[in-house]
Amino acid sequence: MFTPSLALGLVLLPFVSAAVHDIQVGANGGLVFSPEAIAAQPGDQVVFHFTSKNHTVTQSSFANPCGLKDGGFDSGFMPVAANQTDNFPTHTITVQDTQPIWVYCRQKVPVSHCGAGMVFAVNCGADGSPNSFTGFKQSALAFGAAQASATPSAAPSAPAAPAASSDVAAPVWTTAAYGGYTIPAAAQATPVTQAVTLGSQVWTTTYNSVPGSPDPTPTSAEGAIHTVVVGGTGGVLSFNPSSVQAKPRDVVVFEFHQKNHTVTQSSFADPCRPLNANGVTGFDSGFFPVADNATTFPTWNLTVNDTAPIWAYCRQTVPASHCGSGMVFAINAVESSDRNFTAYQNVAKALNGTAAAANAPAPSPSAPANAASSIRLGGATATVAIAAAFALLL
Ligand SMILES: *[C@@H]1O[C@H](CO)[C@@H](O)[C@H](O)[C@H]1NC(C)=O
Ligand SMILES: *[C@@H]1O[C@H](CO)[C@@H](O)[C@H](O)[C@H]1NC(C)=O
Ligand SMILES: *[C@@H]1O[C@H](CO)[C@@H](O)[C@H](O)[C@H]1NC(C)=O
Ligand SMILES: *[C@@H]1O[C@H](CO)[C@@H](O)[C@H](O)[C@H]1NC(C)=O
Ligand SMILES: *[C@@H]1O[C@H](CO)[C@@H](O)[C@H](O)[C@H]1NC(C)=O
Ligand SMILES: *[C@@H]1O[C@H](CO)[C@@H](O)[C@H](O)[C@H]1NC(C)=O
Ligand SMILES: *[C@@H]1O[C@H](CO)[C@@H](O)[C@H](O)[C@H]1NC(C)=O
Ligand SMILES: *[C@@H]1O[C@H](CO)[C@@H](O)[C@H](O)[C@H]1NC(C)=O
Repeated sequence: MFTPSLALGLVLLPFVSAAVHDIQVGANGGLVFSPEAIAAQPGDQVVFHFTSKNHTVTQSSFANPCGLKDGGFDSGFMPVAANQTDNFPTHTITVQDTQPIWVYCRQKVPVSHCGAGMVFAVNCGADGSPNSFTGFKQSALAFGAAQASATPSAAPSAPAAPAASSDVAAPVWTTAAYGGYTIPAAAQATPVTQAVTLGSQVWTTTYNSVPGSPDPTPTSAEGAIHTVVVGGTGGVLSFNPSSVQAKPRDVVVFEFHQKNHTVTQSSFADPCRPLNANGVTGFDSGFFPVADNATTFPTWNLTVNDTAPIWAYCRQTVPASHCGSGMVFAINAVESSDRNFTAYQNVAKALNGTAAAANAPAPSPSAPANAASSIRLGGATATVAIAAAFALLL
């Protein structure tokens, strides 16, 4: 039998020893995760059951409990009718390592659920340690208190200022991790529940969809194969093709040609550094040195598990940054959006290219002024880049 989550469950069938942790979201109609904190092993699944109201399961960070972490996961809103008593919607994540995972509900109507303490953690520190659950929840409550005191109509003179909130309501532009480059907003995800038919098997899947997201139906049980040539003779610094559209279960075969390259996962906003968001470490092929006279080429394979865009690059920096010269790669980039492959490649060139140091790019004139806002948290002013990336959309 297939598990309901296509994004996470589909190809995990052989790994049977992992534990499953069930969490109630909005237990008894309250603004609470139950239990609030768990310990989990790599490979374990955490299944969130949305039992009331209209909540999300959204990844944040210890430092900013009520803001979407760039590259973090997000279930999207999961509304549940007041009279619903079973068949609750779920969202599943797989624990990748022993790092803490910080989670909140980003509903803010009529009040910030996170600010009311609706937070959750996996593998947090013990009480009294610097990253305890108690400390995390206290910061969330402090955020709520700061927001409540900032909200009253006391700011009529503020011209079109956004609410002082790190929560994510609408897509906003953000600033790159370094270099001051302006990053296009990620589209908002909408959870879609759909029956998927594969041969004689039919199952229901819930996945996040953005406009332009591919259909999640696998091509076949084995998936299709996409071959990508990495590097080659004449010093060519490219993935060919540099962008593919793939379905869950498809395999991307990276065939390493001349020179000494990698394929390493990153994120749209930080294209030339390895993805390492809380609890999520990206893939990395390692270096594949290939001689100039080679005629057979080593391969490294990646299985596609969902329809969210995947961003990657070559992390060779000798003699110069391959990523900065545009050696980047994408799976399922939404070409009709601002986060298309060319836009991603441009971010890489702007941040790590030869021109990056000499010619720091000016912020885009079309970026609205609310790309970052300051919030006061526990007495310290923190500048929070509002990233509207979501869920599995990195
Ligand atoms: C759930 O909450 C979101 C955000 O407040 C809102 O946009 C959406 O309409 C709500 N859905 C339902 C069914 O109430
Ligand atoms: C819940 O209420 C709605 C509208 O009030 C109704 O259409 C629906 O059948 C009810 N569902 C159940 C399970 O009672
Ligand atoms: C490949 O590149 C890496 C990183 O620059 C380097 O450490 C390694 O020695 C290189 N391998 C060969 C065989 O040149
Ligand atoms: C490639 O060249 C190296 C030395 O330049 C030689 O040792 C090796 O046998 C050659 N390999 C092939 C496949 O021709
Ligand atoms: C990658 O997949 C291809 C096609 O199935 C296969 O020929 C190749 O041996 C695989 N490479 C590795 C390293 O498993
Ligand atoms: C898909 O899942 C497999 C097994 O968990 C994992 O090895 C692989 O890296 C995942 N693919 C991506 C693109 O993350
Ligand atoms: C890109 O630049 C950043 C910031 O200087 C650096 O940390 C990173 O290692 C660089 N990556 C590559 C592949 O050049
Ligand atoms: C690709 O993204 C860039 C910048 O984000 C945007 O200007 C361009 O219009 C996009 N292309 C398409 C075809 O939407």
